[in-house]
Amino acid sequence: RFSKPAPMFLDDSFRKCLFLSPFLPNFCSRSLYNLIKAILSVTKEYRLTPALDSLRCRRCIIVGNGGVLANKSLGSRIDNYDIVVRLNSAPVKGFEKDVGSKTTLRITYPEGAMQRPEQYERDSLFVLAGFKWQDFRWLKYIVYKERVSASEGFWKSVATRVPKEPPEIRILNPYFIQEAAFTLIGLPFNNGLMGRGNIPTLGSVAVTMALHGCDEVAVAGFGYDMNTPNAPLHYYETVRMAAIKESWTHNIQREKEFLQKLVKARVITDLSSGI
Ligand SMILES: *[C@@H]1O[C@H](CO)[C@@H](O)[C@H](O)[C@H]1NC(C)=O
Repeated sequence: RFSKPAPMFLDDSFRKCLFLSPFLPNFCSRSLYNLIKAILSVTKEYRLTPALDSLRCRRCIIVGNGGVLANKSLGSRIDNYDIVVRLNSAPVKGFEKDVGSKTTLRITYPEGAMQRPEQYERDSLFVLAGFKWQDFRWLKYIVYKERVSASEGFWKSVATRVPKEPPEIRILNPYFIQEAAFTLIGLPFNNGLMGRGNIPTLGSVAVTMALHGCDEVAVAGFGYDMNTPNAPLHYYETVRMAAIKESWTHNIQREKEFLQKLVKARVITDLSSGI
């Protein structure tokens, strides 16, 4: 149980500093506030679908991108959940047997978004996880169908088009990023400076969201096993575990401990036993 309930998505009742996150020191700036207002004035939807909202028991699964999903035929078990969450550009087509075919939410940041419009599945909601103010500027271009003109501020090229109509687009409540980093995983605050060793992975942020918004939470495709360097890192490509780089932004070890604790306490179920 959380003492602070938090809605999954930002709605138009968000107040200037209510969702202040140390990662977003500019969250109080007038310009970011206006960006978010402009986005929400077009998307106008801040909830899940009515059917999902009215479920008495909401069962959610976060599908990670780990190679541990390969050849486990977990697809039908994954599709059994009410809400299937996928991250960044994780593909579904061609991998249905192992990862399922249903996508309820696709949570991404701009650098992780699928770049080819035909890669997007129908019927899913596109959810922005905004880690920095440029991410919100990017989403404004996307919902207004404007040319994405400013590439500065991104660490790799970003999608210029997302084939989703504004009512299918949401902004993940930034509170989950803050709570995952500092309350649950215990990453260093660094005076609120986002960067070295204190950015939670999108997987942990999605789990945090699900712990708030779902009655039952499962994960699949989580965990790196460094003892098997030849195992695939992701389920959709041949890059091997050994290729993983020491990350200067994430703390994989701390996140592993956090997730192991949740599994051990049976707060979450790990379908692919990678954690
Ligand atoms: C999965 O099965 C395919 C086809 O049999 C094989 O090529 C691949 O190496 C397997 N991957 C893993 C991780 O076991």
